[in-house]
Amino acid sequence: MVDLPENLYPEFDRMLARGDKEALLRQRGIVLWLYGLSGSGKSTLANALERRLHREGFCANILDGDNIRTGLNSDLGFSDDDRTENIRRIAEVAKLFLNAGIVTITAFITPGEALRQTARDIVGVDDFVEVFVKCSFQKCAERDTKGLYAKALSGKLKNFTGRDSNFEEPDSPDLILDSEYDSIETCLEKVYLHILPKIRVT
Ligand code: ADX
Repeated sequence: MVDLPENLYPEFDRMLARGDKEALLRQRGIVLWLYGLSGSGKSTLANALERRLHREGFCANILDGDNIRTGLNSDLGFSDDDRTENIRRIAEVAKLFLNAGIVTITAFITPGEALRQTARDIVGVDDFVEVFVKCSFQKCAERDTKGLYAKALSGKLKNFTGRDSNFEEPDSPDLILDSEYDSIETCLEKVYLHILPKIRVT
C-alpha cells in the first residue's frame, strides 16, 4: 500500500477509466519516448509520426522539448537537477495523456539512463516504449539547424549535451532509429510498424 501525503485525497476510482476512453477512441494509448541529442531528428520524427497516425485514424499528441521549456518548464535550465525535474514533470504529463487513451509522443534529449528509468517508472513499464534516435554529435553539429552547436563549440552556451554535459548511450532501448544514416521516411516506417500492434485494437 502506497503512503499518501497528508491532507490529500486523490480520487482515481470515481473517474471514468482509461479503458472507457480507449474504447471511445478505438485505440490503445502508449507513451512513445523519443530521445537523443539535440538536432538528432526527434521533433521531425515526432511530427511526421503524429501526422501519419492521425491519417490512419489514431489520436496522438506530441510533448516536445522546445515547446514545453517555453511553457510548463520555463523555470528550468540545463543543470543535472533541472533536467531531472524537466523529465519528471514531462513523464507525469505524458501519463495524464496516456490515461486519456492518447498515443503520446515525447521528444526530449533525456540524456541519462537514470532519467529514462524515472520516466519509465512514472509512466509504467507496460505502456512505455523507449526509442533512441541515434545520431552522432559530429553529424548533429554539422546540421546545426538551431545554431546551438556553433554557440556551444565557441563556449557561448554552457552545459550543452554532448559537449560539457553528458549523453549516455542506452543499453537496451525498445527500438533504435539511426537518423544519421537512414532517411526520415525509413525511420518513420520503422517506428510506425513498431507501435502499430501496441495501439491497434481489433
Ligand atoms: S533535456 O536534457 O532536459 O531532456 P530538453 O529535450 O528538454 O532537454 O531540451 C533540449 C532543447 O533545448 C534542445 O533541443 C535545444 O534546442 C535547447 N537547449 C538549450 N540549451 C541547451 C543545452 N545546454 N543543452 C541541450 N539543449 C539545449
